Amino acid sequence: MSKITLPDLSHYWVPFTANRQFKAMPRLFKAARGHYFTTMDERQVLDGTAGLWCTPAGHARPEIAEAVGKQLLTLDYAPAFQSSHPLAFEAATKLAEYMPAGLDRIFFTGSGSESADTALKIALAYHRVCGNPLRNKLIGRERGYHGVNFGGISVGGIAGNRKAFGNALSGVDHIRHPLDITKNAFTKGVPEDGGVALANEFEARILTLHDPSTIAALIVEPVQGSAGVLVPPAGYLKRLREICTKYGILLIFDEVITGFGRLGTKFGADYFDVSPDILLCAKGLTNGVVPMGAVAVKREIYDAFMEKSPAGAIELPHGYTYSAIPIACAASIATLDIFAQEKLENRAADLSAYFEAAAHSLKGLPMVRDIRNIGLVAGLEFEQFVDKTGATKMGAFSMAVYLKCYELGLHVRFTGDIIAISPPLTIEKHEIDRIFNTLADAIKFVANQGEAGILANNYLKSEQNWAAQIALEHAALLELGHHTHRAEESLHA
Ligand SMILES: Cc1ncc(COP(=O)(O)O)c(C=O)c1O
Repeated sequence: MSKITLPDLSHYWVPFTANRQFKAMPRLFKAARGHYFTTMDERQVLDGTAGLWCTPAGHARPEIAEAVGKQLLTLDYAPAFQSSHPLAFEAATKLAEYMPAGLDRIFFTGSGSESADTALKIALAYHRVCGNPLRNKLIGRERGYHGVNFGGISVGGIAGNRKAFGNALSGVDHIRHPLDITKNAFTKGVPEDGGVALANEFEARILTLHDPSTIAALIVEPVQGSAGVLVPPAGYLKRLREICTKYGILLIFDEVITGFGRLGTKFGADYFDVSPDILLCAKGLTNGVVPMGAVAVKREIYDAFMEKSPAGAIELPHGYTYSAIPIACAASIATLDIFAQEKLENRAADLSAYFEAAAHSLKGLPMVRDIRNIGLVAGLEFEQFVDKTGATKMGAFSMAVYLKCYELGLHVRFTGDIIAISPPLTIEKHEIDRIFNTLADAIKFVANQGEAGILANNYLKSEQNWAAQIALEHAALLELGHHTHRAEESLHA
């Protein structure tokens, strides 16, 4: 018998999660080490997603933990505005050295969302400081994800993330996303055709609808991650770069997912050999352990602010209390040291052919509509599930596959009808095999169940029992007039 202690689940509003469903079958990790999470009932779950794309060096790296712990007891906080601390400059220098050439002026933030909004604000302010305040429109892309702040959802292109929140920023337009399953299904790596023509649509759009002289910036993820691993066709990003240069539009790469080795290079900019004017990142910057993001800008952009702002003025009225907090700087320096010592991007590149073959071995399984991959990231897109009444159930099949994988000891990520795999870059070949074998088993299992396969209640029976038990205890305590913060249960594991 093992005793399982779960917290009271009622107070915490879990982000980007179906809370009612989650609280009916809570999936809680209580520890992590290397490539494995430990669940509440002591099961080891292989991390097929590097956390939330954010732990490229694996979990519980002692080098990072020690650096953060030491820093907490040396300088826990220094005011971020009007004063600073040495580690902020050291972290910026180290990150600048890791960045693609030329992107060596660094603004620190607390997350990817803050980095996206910071990048957009820098772009707008740059044109203003250069005497072009009317160059103030922003262009994003369908299915783009740039976090959840108002700037990010405005240029982002995922309807579900926008529809509840009003009209967001004005002066924003979007270009088409690059996925064409009808032509490119099951492409290994970068699709060959259509890239330049698709990029040319950007030029046509701004010429027809806006006048390019009104456009401040175009923001794109080199590979669209959150919306389902959308790999751009060959030549596409280079052509976008040419068009931006032609019209004086700043090109912003959101590398929150593609940064820090994911594609087998340091950044997506390196993979595609395209140099953006502004590059933003987060997640892997601290190996996910302390919230931190960064925006790297070309030196000319920083210099324009320094040269053209009035003497003594704050050149960019923007920043966060937690910009470059000491523990984030310590974590990022330790993380970049790990990257330098272990050459994790090279490791990802070396493993990518093996990973690609394993991912594409799932072709032909029921419901599998497309498989896409690049570096150490893969996306599996499923057919939309249609029930007996003919109603489509968007995301139901992938959700069930995710739950089944969890039962089988693998963590994957699902969004819409897509499962994304993005393991730590330290992953071993036998673990890659395990990821895709487990995924194959889960897909077959869910598909074989027919209609019942997509019912969440059919999965994670233990977790459902725990949740029910907690709910009962909670209700009983409330009836007794007691207030409790914890509920306990004992179950046979
Ligand atoms: C491309 C991209 N930009 C921005 C973000 C937002 O990052 P955060 O969740 O740290 O705010 C994400 C998160 O997944 C992302 O994938």
